[in-house]
Amino acid sequence: MLVRDADVKDIDGIVAIYNDAVANTTAIWNEVTVDVANRAAWLADRHCQGYPVLVAVDDAGAILGYASFGDWRAWDGYRYTVEHSVYVRRDQRGGGIGRALLAELIDRARSMGKHVMVAGIEARNEASIRLHHKLGFESVGHLKEAGTKFGDWLDLAFLQLKLDRRADPGEAIP
Ligand SMILES: CC(C)(COP(=O)(O)OP(=O)(O)OC[C@H]1O[C@@H](n2cnc3c(N)ncnc32)[C@H](O)[C@@H]1OP(=O)(O)O)[C@@H](O)C(=O)NCCC(=O)NCCS
Repeated sequence: MLVRDADVKDIDGIVAIYNDAVANTTAIWNEVTVDVANRAAWLADRHCQGYPVLVAVDDAGAILGYASFGDWRAWDGYRYTVEHSVYVRRDQRGGGIGRALLAELIDRARSMGKHVMVAGIEARNEASIRLHHKLGFESVGHLKEAGTKFGDWLDLAFLQLKLDRRADPGEAIP
Protein backbone atom coordinates (compact mmCIF):
# COMPACT_ATOMS: atom_id res chain seq x y z
CA MET A 1 0.00 0.00 0.00
CA LEU A 2 1.25 3.42 -0.96
CA VAL A 3 0.03 6.87 0.07
CA ARG A 4 0.47 9.51 -2.63
CA ASP A 5 -1.06 12.70 -3.97
CA ALA A 6 -4.30 12.18 -5.88
CA ASP A 7 -4.78 13.16 -9.49
CA VAL A 8 -7.75 13.14 -11.84
CA LYS A 9 -7.26 9.46 -12.69
CA ASP A 10 -8.17 8.65 -9.08
CA ILE A 11 -11.56 10.36 -9.15
CA ASP A 12 -13.65 7.23 -9.86
CA GLY A 13 -12.22 5.53 -6.78
CA ILE A 14 -12.74 8.61 -4.64
CA VAL A 15 -16.36 8.95 -5.85
CA ALA A 16 -17.11 5.31 -4.99
CA ILE A 17 -15.78 5.68 -1.44
CA TYR A 18 -17.49 9.05 -0.91
CA ASN A 19 -20.86 7.78 -2.16
CA ASP A 20 -20.68 4.66 -0.01
CA ALA A 21 -20.08 6.89 3.02
CA VAL A 22 -23.04 9.10 2.02
CA ALA A 23 -25.40 6.16 1.55
CA ASN A 24 -24.37 4.00 4.51
CA THR A 25 -22.69 6.06 7.24
CA THR A 26 -23.01 9.18 9.35
CA ALA A 27 -19.39 10.08 8.57
CA ILE A 28 -20.68 12.54 5.94
CA TRP A 29 -23.82 14.51 6.82
CA ASN A 30 -25.10 14.57 3.25
CA GLU A 31 -27.82 12.38 1.84
CA VAL A 32 -27.15 13.10 -1.83
CA THR A 33 -24.53 11.16 -3.75
CA VAL A 34 -22.14 12.94 -6.12
CA ASP A 35 -20.85 12.36 -9.63
CA VAL A 36 -17.35 12.41 -11.10
CA ALA A 37 -17.63 16.09 -12.13
CA ASN A 38 -18.43 17.06 -8.52
CA ARG A 39 -15.34 15.38 -7.05
CA ALA A 40 -13.14 16.55 -9.94
CA ALA A 41 -14.16 20.14 -9.15
CA TRP A 42 -13.45 19.50 -5.46
CA LEU A 43 -9.99 18.09 -6.25
CA ALA A 44 -9.18 21.05 -8.50
CA ASP A 45 -10.37 23.45 -5.83
CA ARG A 46 -8.20 21.83 -3.15
CA HIS A 47 -5.17 21.95 -5.45
CA CYS A 48 -5.90 25.56 -6.35
CA GLN A 49 -5.74 26.43 -2.65
CA GLY A 50 -2.48 24.51 -2.27
CA TYR A 51 -4.11 21.83 -0.11
CA PRO A 52 -3.38 18.13 -0.47
CA VAL A 53 -5.69 15.31 -1.47
CA LEU A 54 -4.03 12.00 -0.66
CA VAL A 55 -4.97 8.52 -1.81
CA ALA A 56 -3.93 5.11 -0.53
CA VAL A 57 -3.45 2.70 -3.43
CA ASP A 58 -2.67 -1.00 -3.73
CA ASP A 59 -0.08 -2.57 -6.05
CA ALA A 60 -2.59 -2.61 -8.90
CA GLY A 61 -3.37 1.08 -8.42
CA ALA A 62 -6.84 0.57 -6.90
CA ILE A 63 -7.95 3.33 -4.51
CA LEU A 64 -8.22 2.00 -0.94
CA GLY A 65 -8.90 5.30 0.80
CA TYR A 66 -8.40 9.03 0.62
CA ALA A 67 -7.88 12.02 2.88
CA SER A 68 -7.67 15.77 2.58
CA PHE A 69 -7.83 19.03 4.47
CA GLY A 70 -9.08 22.52 3.74
CA ASP A 71 -9.67 25.79 5.57
CA TRP A 72 -11.54 25.28 8.80
CA ARG A 73 -13.33 28.62 8.57
CA ALA A 74 -13.10 31.29 5.90
CA TRP A 75 -11.93 34.27 7.97
CA ASP A 76 -8.28 35.40 7.98
CA GLY A 77 -7.80 34.74 11.67
CA TYR A 78 -8.27 31.02 11.07
CA ARG A 79 -5.47 30.80 8.50
CA TYR A 80 -3.32 28.47 10.59
CA THR A 81 -6.16 26.00 11.19
CA VAL A 82 -7.37 23.28 8.84
CA GLU A 83 -10.17 20.73 8.99
CA HIS A 84 -9.60 17.31 7.48
CA SER A 85 -11.42 14.16 6.52
CA VAL A 86 -10.30 10.58 5.97
CA TYR A 87 -12.19 7.70 4.38
CA VAL A 88 -11.19 4.09 3.86
CA ARG A 89 -12.94 1.73 1.45
CA ARG A 90 -15.39 -0.44 3.37
CA ASP A 91 -13.63 -3.76 2.63
CA GLN A 92 -10.22 -2.34 3.63
CA ARG A 93 -10.99 -0.94 7.09
CA GLY A 94 -9.02 -2.04 10.13
CA GLY A 95 -5.79 -2.65 8.21
CA GLY A 96 -3.85 0.51 9.02
CA ILE A 97 -4.85 2.55 5.95
CA GLY A 98 -6.68 5.27 7.90
CA ARG A 99 -3.71 5.67 10.19
CA ALA A 100 -1.28 5.91 7.24
CA LEU A 101 -3.42 8.54 5.48
CA LEU A 102 -3.92 10.63 8.61
CA ALA A 103 -0.23 10.45 9.58
CA GLU A 104 0.77 11.75 6.14
CA LEU A 105 -1.89 14.46 6.30
CA ILE A 106 -0.51 15.63 9.64
CA ASP A 107 3.00 15.83 8.13
CA ARG A 108 1.67 17.87 5.20
CA ALA A 109 -0.20 20.31 7.45
CA ARG A 110 2.86 20.75 9.64
CA SER A 111 5.13 21.36 6.68
CA MET A 112 2.70 24.00 5.36
CA GLY A 113 3.07 25.90 8.63
CA LYS A 114 -0.41 25.12 9.91
CA HIS A 115 -0.79 25.26 13.68
CA VAL A 116 -3.98 23.30 14.40
CA MET A 117 -5.88 20.46 12.73
CA VAL A 118 -9.58 20.06 13.57
CA ALA A 119 -11.69 16.93 13.15
CA GLY A 120 -15.48 17.13 13.39
CA ILE A 121 -16.62 13.56 14.00
CA GLU A 122 -20.09 12.12 14.56
CA ALA A 123 -19.91 11.41 18.27
CA ARG A 124 -20.74 7.70 18.00
CA ASN A 125 -18.03 7.05 15.38
CA GLU A 126 -15.76 5.16 17.72
CA ALA A 127 -13.38 3.95 15.01
CA SER A 128 -12.62 7.49 13.87
CA ILE A 129 -12.38 8.93 17.39
CA ARG A 130 -9.96 6.17 18.43
CA LEU A 131 -7.88 6.62 15.29
CA HIS A 132 -7.56 10.33 16.05
CA HIS A 133 -6.69 9.76 19.71
CA LYS A 134 -3.99 7.30 18.63
CA LEU A 135 -2.42 9.99 16.47
CA GLY A 136 -2.36 12.54 19.26
CA PHE A 137 -5.65 14.42 18.82
CA GLU A 138 -7.48 15.47 21.97
CA SER A 139 -11.23 15.71 22.41
CA VAL A 140 -12.11 19.37 22.91
CA GLY A 141 -15.83 19.76 22.34
CA HIS A 142 -19.17 18.12 21.88
CA LEU A 143 -22.15 19.72 20.12
CA LYS A 144 -25.44 18.08 20.97
CA GLU A 145 -27.92 17.32 18.16
CA ALA A 146 -26.05 19.59 15.75
CA GLY A 147 -27.10 17.55 12.72
CA THR A 148 -29.50 14.97 11.40
CA LYS A 149 -29.33 11.93 9.14
CA PHE A 150 -31.31 8.70 8.76
CA GLY A 151 -34.06 10.18 10.96
CA ASP A 152 -31.80 10.72 14.00
CA TRP A 153 -30.22 13.73 15.65
CA LEU A 154 -26.44 13.58 15.47
CA ASP A 155 -23.95 14.91 17.99
CA LEU A 156 -20.68 16.35 16.69
CA ALA A 157 -17.44 15.71 18.57
CA PHE A 158 -14.56 18.11 17.95
CA LEU A 159 -10.99 16.89 18.24
CA GLN A 160 -7.86 18.94 17.66
CA LEU A 161 -4.15 18.45 17.24
CA LYS A 162 -1.64 21.23 17.83
CA LEU A 163 1.03 20.83 15.19
CA ASP A 164 3.83 22.94 16.64
CA ARG A 165 4.83 24.83 19.75
CA ARG A 166 4.91 28.33 18.29
CA ALA A 167 4.03 30.63 21.19
CA ASP A 168 3.58 33.57 18.82
CA PRO A 169 1.81 33.29 15.43
CA GLY A 170 4.41 35.66 13.97
CA GLU A 171 7.27 33.31 14.81
CA ALA A 172 9.10 31.62 11.97
CA ILE A 173 7.85 28.12 11.28
CA PRO A 174 10.26 25.66 12.90
C1 LIG B 1 -12.45 5.73 10.58
C2 LIG B 1 -11.58 5.09 9.48
C3 LIG B 1 -11.01 6.19 8.59
C4 LIG B 1 -10.42 4.35 10.16
O1 LIG B 1 -9.56 3.83 9.15
P1 LIG B 1 -9.01 2.33 9.24
O2 LIG B 1 -8.08 2.09 8.14
O3 LIG B 1 -10.19 1.44 9.34
O4 LIG B 1 -8.26 2.37 10.64
P2 LIG B 1 -6.82 1.74 10.99
O5 LIG B 1 -6.84 0.30 10.63
O6 LIG B 1 -5.76 2.59 10.43
O7 LIG B 1 -6.85 1.85 12.57
C5 LIG B 1 -6.13 2.85 13.30
C6 LIG B 1 -6.71 2.92 14.70
O8 LIG B 1 -8.08 3.34 14.63
C7 LIG B 1 -8.85 2.64 15.62
N1 LIG B 1 -9.87 1.84 14.97
C8 LIG B 1 -9.95 1.50 13.67
N2 LIG B 1 -11.08 0.78 13.44
C9 LIG B 1 -11.70 0.66 14.63
C10 LIG B 1 -12.92 0.06 15.03
N3 LIG B 1 -13.72 -0.58 14.17
N4 LIG B 1 -13.27 0.18 16.33
C11 LIG B 1 -12.50 0.83 17.23
N5 LIG B 1 -11.32 1.42 16.89
C12 LIG B 1 -10.95 1.34 15.61
C13 LIG B 1 -7.90 1.78 16.39
O9 LIG B 1 -7.46 2.53 17.51
C14 LIG B 1 -6.76 1.59 15.42
O10 LIG B 1 -5.53 1.41 16.05
P3 LIG B 1 -5.04 -0.09 16.44
O11 LIG B 1 -5.13 -0.89 15.19
O12 LIG B 1 -3.64 0.16 16.91
O13 LIG B 1 -5.98 -0.55 17.50
C15 LIG B 1 -12.39 4.07 8.66
O14 LIG B 1 -13.00 3.14 9.53
C16 LIG B 1 -13.46 4.68 7.78
O15 LIG B 1 -13.19 5.09 6.66
N6 LIG B 1 -14.72 4.74 8.28
C17 LIG B 1 -15.83 5.30 7.52
C18 LIG B 1 -15.64 6.77 7.22
C19 LIG B 1 -15.33 7.56 8.46
O16 LIG B 1 -15.92 7.36 9.52
N7 LIG B 1 -14.38 8.50 8.31
C20 LIG B 1 -14.01 9.42 9.36
C21 LIG B 1 -14.90 10.59 9.32
S1 LIG B 1 -14.46 11.74 10.61
